[in-house]
Amino acid sequence: MPQKPPVVLITGASRGIGRSIALHAAESGYSVALNYANNTQAAEEAARLCEQKKQSPEQKFIPIRGNIGDPADCENLFEETIHRFGRIDSLVNNAGIAPRVRRDMTETTIESFNEVLSVNLTASFFLTQKAVNYWLREKASADDAARNIIFISSISAQSASVNRPEYCISKAGLSMAAKLWAIRCAEHGIRVYELRPGIMATDMTSGVKEKYDALLANGLVPQKRWGTPDDVGLAVEAILKGYFPFTTGDAISIDGGLHIHTF
Ligand SMILES: NC(=O)c1ccc[n+]([C@@H]2O[C@H](COP(=O)([O-])OP(=O)(O)OC[C@H]3O[C@@H](n4cnc5c(N)ncnc54)[C@H](OP(=O)(O)O)[C@@H]3O)[C@@H](O)[C@H]2O)c1
Repeated sequence: MPQKPPVVLITGASRGIGRSIALHAAESGYSVALNYANNTQAAEEAARLCEQKKQSPEQKFIPIRGNIGDPADCENLFEETIHRFGRIDSLVNNAGIAPRVRRDMTETTIESFNEVLSVNLTASFFLTQKAVNYWLREKASADDAARNIIFISSISAQSASVNRPEYCISKAGLSMAAKLWAIRCAEHGIRVYELRPGIMATDMTSGVKEKYDALLANGLVPQKRWGTPDDVGLAVEAILKGYFPFTTGDAISIDGGLHIHTF
């Protein structure tokens, strides 16, 4: 661990999985830039909770508002992070949205397709590009932490749902983005990981809770429970602490075995 706290930028850190990732990063000695879209109250609360987890007085937790679906906001988010913290060591591309309306793919609208792709895929690709270019410009010093890029994709990167194709396509795209960045960055000591959550209890799934409660009761998930934000936070903590040093470009499923095909 470097003498100064390393810095991680987490998109969508105000609620759900992103908030848990922020808390685990705080507990691991990181300063955190907590990006969010609109919910300032939730973002400030997440930053306060991070304060309670911090390991050193130098750690800082700063909410930064910005719609990552807007390239100008993305640029500002990255610049603001460097300006407020003086550096960035890791990036977690977590923010993601579901389609506003689930429609059969014969009726998917171009508006919904573009909206989901712009937040879930385009923003993650170009934020990663900014981070990598920054690291390639700034030569690593002895005080630097390991450099990690983490993409939060989904079981939907591999499992097809014909009533939300834009979501599945965005997550499958993230999976390839992780492989591409892993190959491009390996020689520079930058490691890249894809984490694939399954069915997780967050605001995103609150509207379909009863449906999944029933599916879980019928054995859909081998481990027979909802995933929690903490399940993902723990995996990110392991990566930030350097426990996967010889792994890059891989997808790690966090889904209680949901992805395993059975006969
Ligand atoms: N929940 C699941 O079952 C599940 C399963 C697999 C994968 N995932 C993935 O895990 C990630 C997190 O999901 P979640 O369930 O924690 O979601 P969530 O509870 O809906 O929280 C979404 C977070 O992303 C932020 N956000 C949304 N749109 C944004 C935008 N345009 N710009 C910046 N921030 C934005 C929100 O900020 P505000 O608070 O300001 O709105 C919030 O912090 C997503 O990529 C999702 O696809 C989730």
